[in-house]
Amino acid sequence: MGHPVLKTPAKPVDSPVSPEIQRLIGDMVATMIDANGAGLAAPQVHVPLQLVIFQAPDTRSTGPEDGEERFDLTAPLTVLMNPVIEILGDEIEPGWEGCLSVPGMRGYVSRPNHIRYSGLNEKGEAFSREARGFHARVVQHECDHLDGILYPQRMDDLSELVFESEMRYHEENAEAAE
Ligand code: NI
Repeated sequence: MGHPVLKTPAKPVDSPVSPEIQRLIGDMVATMIDANGAGLAAPQVHVPLQLVIFQAPDTRSTGPEDGEERFDLTAPLTVLMNPVIEILGDEIEPGWEGCLSVPGMRGYVSRPNHIRYSGLNEKGEAFSREARGFHARVVQHECDHLDGILYPQRMDDLSELVFESEMRYHEENAEAAE
């Protein structure tokens, strides 16, 4: 947080199957897995392109264990370039979010619960998918990075921006979010 690339709108990917983009995707996947993240956007690795990856189930199937949340890695790994998000319905749901660019913190963020996203996959093929719950949250969080937006900017109440080490005081909310 604070690096200019995180505040800059990203540019569309022109050549999805070029060696440079394929290498970037590989690096991002390794980084996301290494950091135990549910998603990652190219600006977070200082590349100002419209490319995000994520691996997010509809619900958080695993809660915090030994103080560390583990994500369900059986959810499909998705590469999404030049994304467009359409909000479906009017249901808004709050939930806790973290971000590899805001290390050590969590925030309680309200977002639409049901969306459709479309864009290009890693082969440069157009696709479209509906998402709900945690899946929808992760996609919106990652795509916000492409508009230069970090999750604290989406928060209604900054008193709910907390250190991970203090999450034990917020278990009631954490359970409601799952
Ligand atoms: Ni993030």
